[in-house]
Amino acid sequence: MQRFRNPISSGFQVFAERPEKVRLCENNNMRFLIRWAAYRRMFAVLGCLVVLSLMLLSLSLMDTRTDRHATWTVDLKHKKLLHQHVHDVLQGQCRPHGTRKDLLTRLPASSHKTHPFLWRNEPISDTLFLYPLPFGFRGLQTKVERLQRLLPASDSVTEPVHTSSQCRRCVVVGNGGILKGLELGSLIDRFDTIIRLNSGPLGQFSVDVGNRTSIRLSYPESTPVDWVDTDPLTVFVAVLYKGVDLSWTSAMINKLPVPLWDWLFFWKKVPDQIPLDSSRFRILNPQVIKEAALDLLKYPPPRFHLWGWDQNIPTLGVSALNLASLLCDEVSLAGFGYNLTQQGASLHYYDHLPMSFMQGQKMHDVNKETELLQSLVREGTLTDLTGGIHCSFCTS
Ligand SMILES: *[C@@H]1O[C@H](CO)[C@@H](O)[C@H](O)[C@H]1NC(C)=O
Ligand SMILES: *[C@@H]1O[C@H](CO)[C@@H](O)[C@H](O)[C@H]1NC(C)=O
Repeated sequence: MQRFRNPISSGFQVFAERPEKVRLCENNNMRFLIRWAAYRRMFAVLGCLVVLSLMLLSLSLMDTRTDRHATWTVDLKHKKLLHQHVHDVLQGQCRPHGTRKDLLTRLPASSHKTHPFLWRNEPISDTLFLYPLPFGFRGLQTKVERLQRLLPASDSVTEPVHTSSQCRRCVVVGNGGILKGLELGSLIDRFDTIIRLNSGPLGQFSVDVGNRTSIRLSYPESTPVDWVDTDPLTVFVAVLYKGVDLSWTSAMINKLPVPLWDWLFFWKKVPDQIPLDSSRFRILNPQVIKEAALDLLKYPPPRFHLWGWDQNIPTLGVSALNLASLLCDEVSLAGFGYNLTQQGASLHYYDHLPMSFMQGQKMHDVNKETELLQSLVREGTLTDLTGGIHCSFCTS
């Protein structure tokens, strides 16, 4: 059996909802679930319960240890330079389809036709059934068709209307602690499309991260249990990693309870409702994740083994930027990566877990995701507002 590096655990920890130690368990567990689900359901359930109790235990230990890391200051000069940089990005040139055109040099010809979402009235192409989730719907034909009937038709919705500008700018807001104290909220809110990941909260954090949400992109376990977006234009985009995610999404659209049996296949508590009109639900086209994994990150294609599929799955951040390139002309990132010089910095903008959780980890490993993002920022395909990937405005 060939073992692949787990891209989620070695990759961008900022997208994670949990500290590294716990997240490793979660991700392994998720992979475990994806790979074994078809054959070894009972093993998965038992494993899940064990991992879950370990997770809860370690989480409570971590929380008590880290409550004291509350003081946090931002260098004023750095903040000023950073704000100027974001102003420059907002006023800089906006190339029509700029980010997508650049990405297409790394993507196959078929990617010229990639649609970001599934719609009720658009047939799902056969090629989408070649790979298993999250790259395709292999083996899930009936379930997908049932879910598809709940989705809006592509001509029935007008995507969130933005400012009058012709050229649209997207910002993908990661959950990194690098956002803390930068007071970028009002600047982030000036982008046309604001994509938020997983359970990244707003409310008291709005000064730093803004209060508009065009799209919240997440999978069941990473969706806020208590919905956080107050923006009336918010669209929820479900990312499907495993079969049960389809039933959960159906339940959320239909405002029905999640089937009791399905609860066993989630590795953490999932929301039992999302307070949005059914017309505000979308399904991320698995093709978007497949492009991110196989073409942008050049991960090996999924391989079938007796015990299931073995595959490398990109973090949500990389899939999100690929999605953004389909929706906007220019794409920016905020809250990605780390500022390694900031001692006592937080892992996420919304908690006090210190960066030191990462130390002893592959802190200085430049992994594939970092390399990809760095080269995309350096070559001007994307801009990095907060400088954690590549800091063009930093003085030293
Ligand atoms: C990291 O933070 C320090 C102090 O706030 C700042 O001087 C430096 O430019 C920052 N580096 C990056 C990459 O953001
Ligand atoms: C965001 O905050 C601004 C300023 O406080 C307010 O005018 C606006 O209505 C808020 N938007 C949302 C979506 O909450």
